[in-house]
Amino acid sequence: MEKVSYKNLAREQATAVRAELEKKYAEYVAQGLKLDMSRGKPAPDQLDICDDLLSVISAGSDVADTTPDVRNYGGLDGIPEMKEIFAEMLGVSTKEIIVGGNASLTMMFDMISRSVTHGVLGNTTWCKLSEVKFLCPVPGYDRHFGICECFGIKMIPIAMTEAGPDMDEVKKYVENDASVKGIWCVPKYSNPSGITYSDDVVRAFAALNPAAPDFRIFWDNAYCVHDLYEEGDKLLNILEECRKNGKEDMVYIFASTSKISFPGAGVAVMAMSEANIAAAKKVMTYQMIGPDKINQLRHVKYYKNLDGIMAHMRKHAALIAPKFEIVLETLERELAGLDIADWTAPRGGYFISLDVMNGTAKRVHKLMADAGVVMTGCGATFPYGNDPQDRNLRIAPTYPSVEELKIASELLCLCTKLAALEKIMG
Ligand SMILES: Cc1ncc(COP(=O)(O)O)c(C=O)c1O
Repeated sequence: MEKVSYKNLAREQATAVRAELEKKYAEYVAQGLKLDMSRGKPAPDQLDICDDLLSVISAGSDVADTTPDVRNYGGLDGIPEMKEIFAEMLGVSTKEIIVGGNASLTMMFDMISRSVTHGVLGNTTWCKLSEVKFLCPVPGYDRHFGICECFGIKMIPIAMTEAGPDMDEVKKYVENDASVKGIWCVPKYSNPSGITYSDDVVRAFAALNPAAPDFRIFWDNAYCVHDLYEEGDKLLNILEECRKNGKEDMVYIFASTSKISFPGAGVAVMAMSEANIAAAKKVMTYQMIGPDKINQLRHVKYYKNLDGIMAHMRKHAALIAPKFEIVLETLERELAGLDIADWTAPRGGYFISLDVMNGTAKRVHKLMADAGVVMTGCGATFPYGNDPQDRNLRIAPTYPSVEELKIASELLCLCTKLAALEKIMG
Protein backbone atom coordinates (compact mmCIF):
# COMPACT_ATOMS: atom_id res chain seq x y z
CA MET A 1 0.00 0.00 0.00
CA GLU A 2 2.79 2.41 0.86
CA LYS A 3 4.17 2.48 -2.67
CA VAL A 4 1.10 4.37 -3.87
CA SER A 5 1.71 8.11 -4.17
CA TYR A 6 0.72 9.58 -0.82
CA LYS A 7 -1.31 12.17 -2.66
CA ASN A 8 -3.52 9.43 -4.10
CA LEU A 9 -4.27 7.68 -0.83
CA ALA A 10 -7.94 7.50 0.11
CA ARG A 11 -8.70 9.13 3.47
CA GLU A 12 -9.08 5.86 5.37
CA GLN A 13 -5.87 4.46 3.81
CA ALA A 14 -4.02 7.61 4.81
CA THR A 15 -5.39 7.35 8.35
CA ALA A 16 -4.22 3.74 8.62
CA VAL A 17 -0.74 4.50 7.26
CA ARG A 18 -0.40 7.48 9.56
CA ALA A 19 -1.39 5.46 12.62
CA GLU A 20 1.20 2.84 11.73
CA LEU A 21 3.91 5.52 11.26
CA GLU A 22 3.01 7.19 14.55
CA LYS A 23 3.33 3.85 16.34
CA LYS A 24 6.77 3.21 14.80
CA TYR A 25 7.85 6.76 15.59
CA ALA A 26 6.89 6.32 19.25
CA GLU A 27 9.06 3.18 19.32
CA TYR A 28 12.05 5.19 18.05
CA VAL A 29 11.42 7.92 20.62
CA ALA A 30 11.33 5.29 23.35
CA GLN A 31 14.82 4.12 22.32
CA GLY A 32 16.25 7.46 23.51
CA LEU A 33 18.57 7.78 20.50
CA LYS A 34 21.48 10.18 20.51
CA LEU A 35 22.70 10.47 16.91
CA ASP A 36 24.11 13.25 14.76
CA MET A 37 23.76 13.53 10.97
CA SER A 38 24.64 17.23 10.90
CA ARG A 39 28.40 17.24 10.94
CA GLY A 40 30.12 17.43 7.57
CA LYS A 41 33.39 16.23 8.92
CA PRO A 42 35.55 13.12 8.67
CA ALA A 43 34.94 10.29 11.12
CA PRO A 44 37.77 9.34 13.47
CA ASP A 45 38.78 6.36 11.29
CA GLN A 46 39.34 8.79 8.40
CA LEU A 47 41.67 10.81 10.58
CA ASP A 48 43.49 7.65 11.68
CA ILE A 49 44.51 6.79 8.11
CA CYS A 50 46.40 10.08 7.98
CA ASP A 51 48.22 9.86 11.29
CA ASP A 52 51.57 9.05 9.65
CA LEU A 53 51.56 12.61 8.31
CA LEU A 54 52.41 13.66 11.85
CA SER A 55 55.74 11.87 11.82
CA VAL A 56 57.06 12.43 8.28
CA ILE A 57 59.34 15.24 9.38
CA SER A 58 61.80 15.27 12.17
CA ALA A 59 64.58 17.43 13.53
CA GLY A 60 67.68 17.68 11.41
CA SER A 61 68.10 17.65 7.65
CA ASP A 62 64.40 17.17 6.90
CA VAL A 63 63.60 20.68 7.89
CA ALA A 64 66.98 22.37 7.77
CA ASP A 65 67.66 21.60 4.10
CA THR A 66 64.64 23.39 2.76
CA THR A 67 64.70 26.54 0.66
CA PRO A 68 63.28 28.78 1.90
CA ASP A 69 64.05 27.38 5.33
CA VAL A 70 60.62 26.26 6.51
CA ARG A 71 61.58 27.01 10.09
CA ASN A 72 61.95 30.67 9.38
CA TYR A 73 59.84 33.64 8.26
CA GLY A 74 59.14 34.16 4.57
CA GLY A 75 57.58 32.32 1.66
CA LEU A 76 54.38 34.40 1.70
CA ASP A 77 52.81 32.38 -1.11
CA GLY A 78 53.98 28.94 -0.01
CA ILE A 79 56.88 26.55 -0.51
CA PRO A 80 57.57 25.56 -4.13
CA GLU A 81 56.88 21.83 -3.58
CA MET A 82 53.43 22.51 -2.10
CA LYS A 83 52.65 24.86 -4.99
CA GLU A 84 53.52 22.06 -7.39
CA ILE A 85 51.13 19.61 -5.77
CA PHE A 86 48.29 22.13 -5.73
CA ALA A 87 49.02 23.26 -9.30
CA GLU A 88 48.69 19.65 -10.44
CA MET A 89 45.56 19.14 -8.37
CA LEU A 90 43.83 22.23 -9.77
CA GLY A 91 45.23 22.14 -13.32
CA VAL A 92 46.97 25.52 -13.14
CA SER A 93 50.58 26.71 -13.24
CA THR A 94 52.61 27.24 -10.07
CA LYS A 95 52.63 30.97 -10.87
CA GLU A 96 48.89 30.94 -10.42
CA ILE A 97 49.01 29.55 -6.88
CA ILE A 98 49.05 31.10 -3.42
CA VAL A 99 49.35 28.49 -0.70
CA GLY A 100 47.59 29.65 2.43
CA GLY A 101 47.20 28.68 6.03
CA ASN A 102 44.98 26.02 7.48
CA ALA A 103 41.60 27.00 5.96
CA SER A 104 40.31 27.92 2.52
CA LEU A 105 37.41 29.68 4.20
CA THR A 106 39.89 32.21 5.59
CA MET A 107 41.21 32.79 2.06
CA MET A 108 37.68 33.38 0.78
CA PHE A 109 36.89 35.71 3.65
CA ASP A 110 40.13 37.61 3.09
CA MET A 111 39.49 37.88 -0.64
CA ILE A 112 36.16 39.55 0.01
CA SER A 113 37.64 41.64 2.78
CA ARG A 114 40.35 42.95 0.41
CA SER A 115 37.70 43.72 -2.24
CA VAL A 116 35.77 45.72 0.34
CA THR A 117 38.74 47.66 1.64
CA HIS A 118 41.09 47.85 -1.37
CA GLY A 119 38.93 47.05 -4.39
CA VAL A 120 39.57 44.59 -7.20
CA LEU A 121 42.30 45.40 -9.74
CA GLY A 122 41.89 49.16 -9.50
CA ASN A 123 38.09 49.24 -9.35
CA THR A 124 36.13 51.17 -6.73
CA THR A 125 36.46 49.60 -3.29
CA TRP A 126 33.26 47.78 -2.44
CA CYS A 127 32.91 49.73 0.82
CA LYS A 128 32.28 52.88 -1.23
CA LEU A 129 29.38 51.32 -3.14
CA SER A 130 25.79 51.68 -1.97
CA GLU A 131 25.08 48.05 -2.69
CA VAL A 132 27.09 44.91 -3.37
CA LYS A 133 25.32 41.71 -4.36
CA PHE A 134 26.38 38.09 -4.64
CA LEU A 135 24.57 35.30 -6.43
CA CYS A 136 24.09 32.21 -4.30
CA PRO A 137 23.16 28.94 -5.97
CA VAL A 138 20.75 27.11 -3.64
CA PRO A 139 20.85 24.87 -1.80
CA GLY A 140 24.39 25.94 -0.97
CA TYR A 141 27.06 26.17 1.72
CA ASP A 142 26.00 28.14 4.78
CA ARG A 143 29.48 29.48 5.52
CA HIS A 144 29.65 31.16 2.10
CA PHE A 145 26.41 32.88 2.95
CA GLY A 146 27.78 33.77 6.37
CA ILE A 147 30.72 35.64 4.81
CA CYS A 148 28.28 37.72 2.75
CA GLU A 149 26.19 38.47 5.82
CA CYS A 150 29.31 39.51 7.72
CA PHE A 151 30.14 42.13 5.06
CA GLY A 152 26.54 43.24 4.45
CA ILE A 153 26.56 41.83 0.91
CA LYS A 154 23.06 41.24 -0.41
CA MET A 155 22.48 37.65 -1.46
CA ILE A 156 20.34 36.57 -4.40
CA PRO A 157 19.40 32.88 -4.51
CA ILE A 158 19.88 31.08 -7.84
CA ALA A 159 18.21 27.73 -8.45
CA MET A 160 20.43 24.71 -9.00
CA THR A 161 19.67 22.35 -11.88
CA GLU A 162 21.11 18.85 -12.24
CA ALA A 163 23.96 20.36 -14.25
CA GLY A 164 24.79 23.28 -11.95
CA PRO A 165 23.33 26.74 -11.36
CA ASP A 166 20.58 27.96 -13.68
CA MET A 167 22.88 29.80 -16.09
CA ASP A 168 20.09 31.82 -17.72
CA GLU A 169 19.41 33.39 -14.32
CA VAL A 170 23.13 33.85 -13.61
CA LYS A 171 23.66 35.52 -16.98
CA LYS A 172 20.64 37.79 -16.51
CA TYR A 173 21.93 39.15 -13.21
CA VAL A 174 25.65 39.24 -14.00
CA GLU A 175 25.28 40.90 -17.38
CA ASN A 176 22.66 43.47 -16.38
CA ASP A 177 23.43 44.50 -12.82
CA ALA A 178 26.79 46.11 -12.07
CA SER A 179 26.21 45.73 -8.34
CA VAL A 180 26.47 41.94 -8.74
CA LYS A 181 30.11 41.41 -7.82
CA GLY A 182 30.33 37.71 -7.27
CA ILE A 183 28.85 34.25 -7.24
CA TRP A 184 29.58 31.36 -4.90
CA CYS A 185 30.18 28.03 -6.62
CA VAL A 186 31.06 24.59 -5.29
CA PRO A 187 31.53 23.14 -8.76
CA LYS A 188 32.40 19.54 -7.95
CA TYR A 189 30.31 17.39 -5.62
CA SER A 190 28.55 20.55 -4.52
CA ASN A 191 27.72 21.16 -0.89
CA PRO A 192 25.02 19.93 -0.28
CA SER A 193 23.66 18.49 -3.53
CA GLY A 194 26.74 16.58 -4.67
CA ILE A 195 26.15 17.89 -8.19
CA THR A 196 29.15 18.45 -10.48
CA TYR A 197 28.79 21.28 -12.96
CA SER A 198 28.51 20.11 -16.58
CA ASP A 199 30.97 21.24 -19.26
CA ASP A 200 28.25 23.48 -20.72
CA VAL A 201 27.74 25.19 -17.37
CA VAL A 202 31.48 25.77 -16.90
CA ARG A 203 31.73 27.16 -20.45
CA ALA A 204 28.70 29.39 -19.79
CA PHE A 205 30.50 30.77 -16.73
CA ALA A 206 33.61 31.46 -18.77
CA ALA A 207 31.53 33.19 -21.45
CA LEU A 208 29.86 35.66 -19.07
CA ASN A 209 30.15 39.33 -19.97
CA PRO A 210 29.70 40.93 -16.55
CA ALA A 211 28.26 44.41 -16.19
CA ALA A 212 30.76 44.90 -13.33
CA PRO A 213 34.45 44.84 -14.31
CA ASP A 214 35.20 43.53 -10.83
CA PHE A 215 32.71 40.66 -10.96
CA ARG A 216 34.37 37.44 -9.75
CA ILE A 217 33.43 33.78 -9.69
CA PHE A 218 34.31 32.31 -6.30
CA TRP A 219 35.04 28.74 -7.42
CA ASP A 220 35.29 26.80 -4.17
CA ASN A 221 36.63 23.48 -5.41
CA ALA A 222 36.65 22.01 -1.89
CA TYR A 223 35.77 18.51 -3.15
CA CYS A 224 37.96 18.37 -6.26
CA VAL A 225 39.55 15.01 -5.38
CA HIS A 226 36.79 13.58 -3.22
CA ASP A 227 35.53 10.79 -5.47
CA LEU A 228 33.66 7.91 -3.85
CA TYR A 229 34.25 5.62 -6.82
CA GLU A 230 37.08 4.79 -9.20
CA GLU A 231 35.38 6.72 -12.00
CA GLY A 232 34.93 10.19 -10.53
CA ASP A 233 32.95 13.10 -11.96
CA LYS A 234 34.97 15.26 -14.34
CA LEU A 235 35.00 19.03 -14.02
CA LEU A 236 36.17 21.30 -16.81
CA ASN A 237 39.06 23.62 -15.93
CA ILE A 238 37.42 27.02 -15.36
CA LEU A 239 40.63 29.05 -15.45
CA GLU A 240 41.56 27.54 -18.80
CA GLU A 241 38.05 28.17 -20.18
CA CYS A 242 38.12 31.77 -18.94
CA ARG A 243 41.54 32.26 -20.49
CA LYS A 244 40.27 31.07 -23.88
CA ASN A 245 37.83 34.01 -23.70
CA GLY A 246 40.42 36.47 -22.48
CA LYS A 247 38.75 36.51 -19.05
CA GLU A 248 41.26 34.78 -16.84
CA ASP A 249 40.87 37.49 -14.17
CA MET A 250 37.19 36.61 -13.69
CA VAL A 251 37.70 33.56 -11.45
CA TYR A 252 39.20 32.80 -8.05
CA ILE A 253 39.67 29.11 -7.29
CA PHE A 254 39.87 27.85 -3.70
CA ALA A 255 40.60 24.45 -2.20
CA SER A 256 42.31 22.84 0.76
CA THR A 257 43.46 19.55 2.19
CA SER A 258 40.94 19.89 5.03
CA LYS A 259 39.09 16.73 4.04
CA ILE A 260 42.19 15.09 2.61
CA SER A 261 44.41 15.28 5.69
CA PHE A 262 43.17 17.02 8.85
CA PRO A 263 40.39 19.64 8.95
CA GLY A 264 41.78 22.63 10.78
CA ALA A 265 45.34 21.40 10.37
CA GLY A 266 45.53 21.03 6.61
CA VAL A 267 46.78 23.42 3.94
CA ALA A 268 44.62 25.80 1.92
CA VAL A 269 45.17 27.20 -1.55
CA MET A 270 43.94 29.85 -3.91
CA ALA A 271 44.51 29.72 -7.69
CA MET A 272 43.97 32.57 -10.11
CA SER A 273 45.47 34.71 -12.86
CA GLU A 274 48.89 36.23 -12.26
CA ALA A 275 47.30 39.69 -12.13
CA ASN A 276 44.94 38.57 -9.38
CA ILE A 277 47.82 36.84 -7.55
CA ALA A 278 49.88 40.02 -7.60
CA ALA A 279 46.96 42.10 -6.31
CA ALA A 280 46.27 39.69 -3.46
CA LYS A 281 49.90 39.47 -2.43
CA LYS A 282 50.23 43.24 -2.39
CA VAL A 283 47.83 43.37 0.54
CA MET A 284 48.72 40.02 2.11
CA THR A 285 52.26 41.19 2.59
CA TYR A 286 50.98 43.55 5.29
CA GLN A 287 48.91 40.80 6.86
CA MET A 288 51.64 38.27 7.62
CA ILE A 289 55.28 37.50 7.09
CA GLY A 290 54.67 33.95 5.98
CA PRO A 291 52.38 30.94 6.48
CA ASP A 292 53.10 27.74 8.41
CA LYS A 293 55.60 26.23 6.00
CA ILE A 294 56.40 23.32 8.31
CA ASN A 295 52.88 22.02 7.85
CA GLN A 296 53.22 22.48 4.11
CA LEU A 297 56.44 20.45 4.18
CA ARG A 298 54.67 17.73 6.16
CA HIS A 299 52.02 17.49 3.46
CA VAL A 300 54.63 17.48 0.68
CA LYS A 301 56.62 14.68 2.30
CA TYR A 302 53.52 12.64 3.01
CA TYR A 303 51.66 12.95 -0.30
CA LYS A 304 54.58 13.72 -2.66
CA ASN A 305 52.33 14.48 -5.64
CA LEU A 306 48.77 14.26 -6.95
CA ASP A 307 49.06 10.46 -7.31
CA GLY A 308 49.82 10.32 -3.60
CA ILE A 309 46.75 12.38 -2.84
CA MET A 310 44.54 10.27 -5.08
CA ALA A 311 45.79 7.05 -3.48
CA HIS A 312 44.96 8.51 -0.08
CA MET A 313 41.51 9.60 -1.26
CA ARG A 314 40.77 6.01 -2.25
CA LYS A 315 41.28 5.05 1.40
CA HIS A 316 38.79 7.73 2.45
CA ALA A 317 36.35 6.48 -0.20
CA ALA A 318 36.58 2.91 1.11
CA LEU A 319 35.47 4.19 4.50
CA ILE A 320 32.72 6.57 3.46
CA ALA A 321 31.18 5.10 0.27
CA PRO A 322 29.33 2.43 2.35
CA LYS A 323 27.90 5.26 4.47
CA PHE A 324 26.52 7.11 1.46
CA GLU A 325 25.19 3.82 0.15
CA ILE A 326 23.28 2.91 3.32
CA VAL A 327 21.56 6.31 3.31
CA LEU A 328 20.76 6.17 -0.39
CA GLU A 329 19.50 2.57 -0.22
CA THR A 330 17.23 3.51 2.65
CA LEU A 331 15.85 6.58 0.89
CA GLU A 332 15.20 4.52 -2.22
CA ARG A 333 13.58 1.64 -0.37
CA GLU A 334 11.41 3.78 1.88
CA LEU A 335 10.55 6.86 -0.15
CA ALA A 336 10.72 6.04 -3.87
CA GLY A 337 7.34 6.14 -5.53
CA LEU A 338 5.56 7.97 -2.70
CA ASP A 339 5.75 11.34 -4.41
CA ILE A 340 6.81 13.11 -1.23
CA ALA A 341 10.59 13.51 -1.55
CA ASP A 342 13.51 13.89 -3.96
CA TRP A 343 17.14 13.41 -3.19
CA THR A 344 20.51 13.51 -4.87
CA ALA A 345 22.81 10.49 -5.27
CA PRO A 346 26.30 12.00 -5.24
CA ARG A 347 29.35 10.11 -6.44
CA GLY A 348 31.63 12.13 -4.21
CA GLY A 349 31.90 14.95 -1.71
CA TYR A 350 30.43 15.02 1.77
CA PHE A 351 26.68 15.49 1.52
CA ILE A 352 23.33 14.30 0.23
CA SER A 353 20.56 16.83 -0.34
CA LEU A 354 17.02 15.75 0.51
CA ASP A 355 13.96 17.71 -0.58
CA VAL A 356 10.94 16.64 1.45
CA MET A 357 7.39 17.70 0.66
CA ASN A 358 7.06 21.48 0.45
CA GLY A 359 6.28 23.00 3.82
CA THR A 360 7.48 20.03 5.87
CA ALA A 361 11.27 20.35 6.30
CA LYS A 362 10.99 22.13 9.65
CA ARG A 363 8.52 19.52 10.86
CA VAL A 364 10.79 16.65 9.75
CA HIS A 365 13.72 18.35 11.46
CA LYS A 366 11.73 18.67 14.70
CA LEU A 367 10.48 15.09 14.59
CA MET A 368 14.09 13.94 14.14
CA ALA A 369 15.31 16.15 16.99
CA ASP A 370 12.53 14.94 19.30
CA ALA A 371 13.61 11.39 18.57
CA GLY A 372 17.25 12.23 19.35
CA VAL A 373 18.77 12.74 15.90
CA VAL A 374 20.44 16.06 15.12
CA MET A 375 20.31 17.22 11.50
CA THR A 376 21.83 20.35 9.92
CA GLY A 377 19.59 23.31 10.81
CA CYS A 378 16.61 23.91 8.54
CA GLY A 379 17.22 26.73 6.10
CA ALA A 380 21.00 26.53 6.60
CA THR A 381 21.44 25.77 2.91
CA PHE A 382 19.81 29.08 1.91
CA PRO A 383 20.88 32.73 2.25
CA TYR A 384 19.63 34.29 5.48
CA GLY A 385 18.59 30.79 6.62
CA ASN A 386 15.42 31.16 4.59
CA ASP A 387 14.31 28.12 2.62
CA PRO A 388 11.25 29.67 0.96
CA GLN A 389 9.65 26.32 0.27
CA ASP A 390 10.63 24.81 3.61
CA ARG A 391 11.73 21.62 1.93
CA ASN A 392 15.52 21.14 1.96
CA LEU A 393 17.48 19.03 4.42
CA ARG A 394 21.21 18.37 4.29
CA ILE A 395 22.39 14.89 5.17
CA ALA A 396 26.00 14.51 6.26
CA PRO A 397 26.78 10.78 6.22
CA THR A 398 30.51 10.74 6.98
CA TYR A 399 30.72 11.14 10.75
CA PRO A 400 28.29 8.56 12.19
CA SER A 401 29.01 4.83 11.95
CA VAL A 402 27.24 2.68 9.33
CA GLU A 403 25.05 1.20 12.10
CA GLU A 404 24.08 4.65 13.36
CA LEU A 405 23.37 5.83 9.84
CA LYS A 406 21.12 2.87 9.19
CA ILE A 407 18.94 3.81 12.15
CA ALA A 408 19.09 7.56 11.49
CA SER A 409 18.17 7.25 7.82
CA GLU A 410 15.30 4.86 8.52
CA LEU A 411 14.00 7.33 11.07
CA LEU A 412 14.48 10.18 8.60
CA CYS A 413 12.32 8.37 6.06
CA LEU A 414 9.69 7.69 8.69
CA CYS A 415 9.62 11.37 9.74
CA THR A 416 9.48 12.46 6.09
CA LYS A 417 6.43 10.24 5.55
CA LEU A 418 4.75 11.29 8.76
CA ALA A 419 5.24 15.01 8.11
CA ALA A 420 3.94 14.59 4.55
CA LEU A 421 0.82 12.79 5.72
CA GLU A 422 0.19 15.39 8.41
CA LYS A 423 0.41 18.05 5.69
CA ILE A 424 -1.77 16.21 3.21
CA MET A 425 -4.43 15.30 5.76
CA GLY A 426 -4.41 18.73 7.35
C1 LIG B 1 32.24 23.84 0.10
C2 LIG B 1 33.16 23.98 1.25
N1 LIG B 1 34.12 24.91 1.21
C3 LIG B 1 34.97 25.07 2.25
C4 LIG B 1 34.87 24.30 3.38
C5 LIG B 1 35.82 24.56 4.51
O1 LIG B 1 37.11 24.38 4.04
P1 LIG B 1 38.37 24.80 4.91
O2 LIG B 1 38.48 23.84 6.02
O3 LIG B 1 39.50 24.71 3.94
O4 LIG B 1 38.15 26.20 5.38
C6 LIG B 1 33.87 23.32 3.46
C7 LIG B 1 33.73 22.51 4.68
O5 LIG B 1 32.75 21.85 4.90
C8 LIG B 1 33.00 23.16 2.37
O6 LIG B 1 32.00 22.26 2.39
